Amino acid sequence: MLNKRLRAIAELIKPCDTLFDVGSDHGFLPLYLLINKKIKKAIIGEINIGPLEQAKKNFMKYPELNCEYVLSDGLNLYNGLIDTVVIAGMGFETIQHIILQDIDKFKKIPQIVIQSNTKIDQLREFINSNNFEIIDEDIVKDRKYFYPIIKVKHNELRQELSNEELLFGPYLIKKYNKIFYEYLLFCKRIEENIVQAQKKESSLRIQIIDRLLNLNKNLD
Ligand SMILES: C[S@@+](CC[C@H](N)C(=O)[O-])C[C@H]1O[C@@H](n2cnc3c(N)ncnc32)[C@H](O)[C@@H]1O
Repeated sequence: MLNKRLRAIAELIKPCDTLFDVGSDHGFLPLYLLINKKIKKAIIGEINIGPLEQAKKNFMKYPELNCEYVLSDGLNLYNGLIDTVVIAGMGFETIQHIILQDIDKFKKIPQIVIQSNTKIDQLREFINSNNFEIIDEDIVKDRKYFYPIIKVKHNELRQELSNEELLFGPYLIKKYNKIFYEYLLFCKRIEENIVQAQKKESSLRIQIIDRLLNLNKNLD
Protein backbone atom coordinates (compact mmCIF):
# COMPACT_ATOMS: atom_id res chain seq x y z
CA MET A 1 0.00 0.00 0.00
CA LEU A 2 2.82 2.43 0.79
CA ASN A 3 5.59 3.45 -1.60
CA LYS A 4 9.22 2.99 -0.49
CA ARG A 5 9.53 6.56 0.77
CA LEU A 6 6.43 6.45 2.97
CA ARG A 7 7.33 2.94 4.19
CA ALA A 8 10.76 4.19 5.32
CA ILE A 9 9.07 7.09 7.14
CA ALA A 10 6.70 4.60 8.81
CA GLU A 11 9.68 2.46 9.88
CA LEU A 12 11.33 5.42 11.63
CA ILE A 13 8.26 6.02 13.80
CA LYS A 14 8.25 4.37 17.23
CA PRO A 15 4.80 3.18 18.39
CA CYS A 16 2.96 6.13 19.94
CA ASP A 17 -0.48 7.46 20.88
CA THR A 18 -1.29 10.37 18.60
CA LEU A 19 0.41 11.26 15.33
CA PHE A 20 -0.19 14.49 13.43
CA ASP A 21 0.56 14.15 9.71
CA VAL A 22 1.18 17.68 8.40
CA GLY A 23 0.21 17.93 4.72
CA SER A 24 -1.18 14.42 4.66
CA ASP A 25 -2.67 14.67 1.13
CA HIS A 26 -4.19 11.18 0.55
CA GLY A 27 -3.71 10.10 4.22
CA PHE A 28 -1.92 6.86 3.22
CA LEU A 29 0.76 7.08 5.92
CA PRO A 30 -1.60 7.51 8.92
CA LEU A 31 -3.94 4.88 7.45
CA TYR A 32 -1.06 2.37 7.27
CA LEU A 33 0.13 3.22 10.81
CA LEU A 34 -3.39 2.86 12.27
CA ILE A 35 -4.13 -0.43 10.47
CA ASN A 36 -0.79 -1.80 11.69
CA LYS A 37 -1.53 -0.54 15.22
CA LYS A 38 1.65 1.51 15.40
CA ILE A 39 -0.37 4.53 16.47
CA LYS A 40 -3.66 4.78 18.39
CA LYS A 41 -4.95 8.00 16.84
CA ALA A 42 -4.13 10.07 13.74
CA ILE A 43 -4.71 13.73 13.04
CA ILE A 44 -4.73 14.45 9.33
CA GLY A 45 -3.68 18.06 8.79
CA GLU A 46 -4.07 19.82 5.47
CA ILE A 47 -3.89 23.40 4.30
CA ASN A 48 -6.09 22.55 1.29
CA ILE A 49 -9.64 21.23 1.47
CA GLY A 50 -9.30 18.98 -1.64
CA PRO A 51 -6.63 16.64 -0.20
CA LEU A 52 -8.44 16.62 3.18
CA GLU A 53 -11.64 15.39 1.49
CA GLN A 54 -9.62 12.79 -0.44
CA ALA A 55 -8.10 11.52 2.81
CA LYS A 56 -11.60 11.28 4.35
CA LYS A 57 -12.72 9.18 1.36
CA ASN A 58 -9.72 6.85 1.76
CA PHE A 59 -10.65 6.32 5.43
CA MET A 60 -14.35 5.59 4.74
CA LYS A 61 -13.79 1.81 4.57
CA TYR A 62 -12.26 1.89 8.07
CA PRO A 63 -14.81 3.55 10.40
CA GLU A 64 -13.23 1.77 13.40
CA LEU A 65 -9.98 3.76 13.05
CA ASN A 66 -9.49 6.77 15.32
CA CYS A 67 -8.82 9.69 12.99
CA GLU A 68 -9.48 13.44 13.12
CA TYR A 69 -9.30 15.87 10.18
CA VAL A 70 -7.98 19.41 10.57
CA LEU A 71 -7.87 22.15 7.94
CA SER A 72 -4.82 24.08 9.08
CA ASP A 73 -1.50 25.62 8.07
CA GLY A 74 0.79 23.15 9.85
CA LEU A 75 -0.09 22.70 13.54
CA ASN A 76 -1.47 26.23 13.76
CA LEU A 77 -5.15 25.50 14.40
CA TYR A 78 -4.64 22.37 16.49
CA ASN A 79 -4.16 22.48 20.25
CA GLY A 80 -4.76 18.88 21.28
CA LEU A 81 -2.17 16.43 22.58
CA ILE A 82 0.25 14.97 20.03
CA ASP A 83 3.36 12.84 20.56
CA THR A 84 4.52 12.42 16.96
CA VAL A 85 4.58 14.75 13.96
CA VAL A 86 5.41 13.87 10.37
CA ILE A 87 6.18 16.56 7.78
CA ALA A 88 6.92 14.89 4.46
CA GLY A 89 6.90 15.50 0.74
CA MET A 90 7.34 19.27 0.90
CA GLY A 91 10.13 21.73 0.13
CA PHE A 92 12.54 23.09 2.75
CA GLU A 93 11.00 26.58 2.93
CA THR A 94 7.51 25.19 3.64
CA ILE A 95 8.89 22.87 6.33
CA GLN A 96 10.86 25.76 7.88
CA HIS A 97 7.71 27.92 7.94
CA ILE A 98 5.61 25.12 9.50
CA ILE A 99 8.15 24.57 12.32
CA LEU A 100 8.96 28.24 13.00
CA GLN A 101 5.33 29.38 13.27
CA ASP A 102 4.65 26.78 15.99
CA ILE A 103 8.11 26.24 17.42
CA ASP A 104 6.89 26.01 21.03
CA LYS A 105 4.52 23.18 20.09
CA PHE A 106 7.29 21.38 18.19
CA LYS A 107 9.64 21.64 21.20
CA LYS A 108 7.25 19.41 23.17
CA ILE A 109 6.96 16.62 20.58
CA PRO A 110 9.12 13.56 21.38
CA GLN A 111 9.46 12.44 17.77
CA ILE A 112 9.29 14.56 14.62
CA VAL A 113 9.98 12.87 11.30
CA ILE A 114 10.88 15.17 8.43
CA GLN A 115 11.38 14.37 4.75
CA SER A 116 12.17 17.39 2.66
CA ASN A 117 12.16 17.26 -1.14
CA THR A 118 14.77 20.05 -1.33
CA LYS A 119 17.85 21.55 0.41
CA ILE A 120 18.55 18.74 2.88
CA ASP A 121 21.79 20.35 4.11
CA GLN A 122 19.97 23.64 4.83
CA LEU A 123 17.28 21.66 6.64
CA ARG A 124 19.90 20.06 8.92
CA GLU A 125 21.44 23.49 9.64
CA PHE A 126 18.01 24.92 10.43
CA ILE A 127 17.17 21.98 12.71
CA ASN A 128 20.54 22.24 14.46
CA SER A 129 20.43 26.00 14.95
CA ASN A 130 16.98 25.70 16.55
CA ASN A 131 18.20 23.05 19.00
CA PHE A 132 16.46 20.06 17.51
CA GLU A 133 18.65 17.00 17.86
CA ILE A 134 18.87 14.49 15.01
CA ILE A 135 18.04 11.15 16.67
CA ASP A 136 17.85 8.92 13.61
CA GLU A 137 17.97 9.02 9.82
CA ASP A 138 17.34 6.82 6.82
CA ILE A 139 17.67 7.17 3.07
CA VAL A 140 15.72 5.42 0.33
CA LYS A 141 15.80 5.49 -3.45
CA ASP A 142 12.45 5.29 -5.20
CA ARG A 143 12.70 5.16 -8.98
CA LYS A 144 15.53 7.62 -9.67
CA TYR A 145 15.05 9.88 -6.64
CA PHE A 146 16.86 9.76 -3.30
CA TYR A 147 14.90 10.59 -0.13
CA PRO A 148 16.86 11.29 3.05
CA ILE A 149 14.56 11.15 6.08
CA ILE A 150 15.42 12.79 9.40
CA LYS A 151 13.99 12.13 12.86
CA VAL A 152 14.46 14.86 15.47
CA LYS A 153 13.45 15.98 18.95
CA HIS A 154 14.11 19.17 20.82
CA ASN A 155 17.13 19.30 23.12
CA GLU A 156 18.31 22.44 24.95
CA LEU A 157 21.91 21.28 24.48
CA ARG A 158 22.84 21.92 20.87
CA GLN A 159 24.04 18.82 19.02
CA GLU A 160 27.63 19.18 17.84
CA LEU A 161 27.71 18.40 14.13
CA SER A 162 30.71 18.56 11.79
CA ASN A 163 30.43 20.03 8.28
CA GLU A 164 30.16 16.57 6.79
CA GLU A 165 27.44 15.57 9.26
CA LEU A 166 25.45 18.71 8.41
CA LEU A 167 25.83 17.97 4.71
CA PHE A 168 25.19 14.22 4.74
CA GLY A 169 23.65 13.36 8.10
CA PRO A 170 25.28 11.94 11.25
CA TYR A 171 23.20 8.74 11.21
CA LEU A 172 23.43 8.22 7.45
CA ILE A 173 27.22 8.39 7.79
CA LYS A 174 27.18 6.05 10.80
CA LYS A 175 24.87 3.51 9.13
CA TYR A 176 26.59 3.87 5.72
CA ASN A 177 24.60 1.57 3.45
CA LYS A 178 24.63 0.96 -0.30
CA ILE A 179 21.93 3.55 -1.04
CA PHE A 180 23.91 6.15 0.90
CA TYR A 181 27.01 5.32 -1.17
CA GLU A 182 24.96 5.75 -4.39
CA TYR A 183 23.60 9.02 -3.01
CA LEU A 184 27.15 10.29 -2.43
CA LEU A 185 28.05 9.45 -6.04
CA PHE A 186 24.89 11.24 -7.22
CA CYS A 187 25.75 14.34 -5.12
CA LYS A 188 29.32 14.26 -6.42
CA ARG A 189 28.12 14.35 -10.06
CA ILE A 190 25.93 17.39 -9.31
CA GLU A 191 28.74 19.17 -7.48
CA GLU A 192 31.23 18.42 -10.28
CA ASN A 193 28.89 20.09 -12.79
CA ILE A 194 28.64 23.16 -10.54
CA VAL A 195 32.43 23.33 -10.09
CA GLN A 196 32.96 22.93 -13.84
CA ALA A 197 30.45 25.70 -14.63
CA GLN A 198 32.32 27.95 -12.18
CA LYS A 199 35.62 27.00 -13.84
CA LYS A 200 37.04 25.84 -10.50
CA GLU A 201 39.32 22.87 -9.84
CA SER A 202 37.40 21.40 -6.91
CA SER A 203 35.31 22.40 -3.90
CA LEU A 204 35.09 21.69 -0.18
CA ARG A 205 31.92 19.70 -0.85
CA ILE A 206 33.73 17.44 -3.35
CA GLN A 207 36.54 16.89 -0.85
CA ILE A 208 34.01 15.92 1.83
CA ILE A 209 32.19 13.57 -0.57
CA ASP A 210 35.51 11.94 -1.62
CA ARG A 211 36.45 11.41 2.02
CA LEU A 212 33.07 9.78 2.71
CA LEU A 213 33.25 7.66 -0.45
CA ASN A 214 36.63 6.36 0.68
CA LEU A 215 35.25 5.29 4.06
CA ASN A 216 33.60 2.21 2.64
CA LYS A 217 34.16 0.55 -0.70
CA ASN A 218 33.19 -2.95 0.37
CA LEU A 219 29.41 -2.78 0.32
CA ASP A 220 27.50 -5.73 -1.17
C1 LIG B 1 3.22 16.49 -2.03
S1 LIG B 1 2.06 16.33 -0.77
C2 LIG B 1 2.86 15.21 0.33
C3 LIG B 1 1.87 14.28 0.96
C4 LIG B 1 2.44 13.32 2.00
N1 LIG B 1 2.88 14.03 3.18
C5 LIG B 1 3.56 12.52 1.40
O1 LIG B 1 4.71 12.68 1.84
O2 LIG B 1 3.31 11.72 0.49
C6 LIG B 1 2.16 17.86 0.11
C7 LIG B 1 0.85 18.18 0.83
O3 LIG B 1 1.12 19.17 1.81
C8 LIG B 1 0.05 20.10 1.86
N2 LIG B 1 0.61 21.33 2.44
C9 LIG B 1 1.47 22.22 1.88
N3 LIG B 1 1.78 23.19 2.75
C10 LIG B 1 1.11 22.91 3.91
C11 LIG B 1 1.01 23.56 5.18
N4 LIG B 1 1.66 24.70 5.42
N5 LIG B 1 0.23 22.98 6.12
C12 LIG B 1 -0.44 21.83 5.88
N6 LIG B 1 -0.41 21.19 4.68
C13 LIG B 1 0.36 21.72 3.72
C14 LIG B 1 -0.42 20.19 0.40
O4 LIG B 1 -1.76 20.61 0.32
C15 LIG B 1 -0.23 18.74 -0.08
O5 LIG B 1 -1.39 17.98 0.07
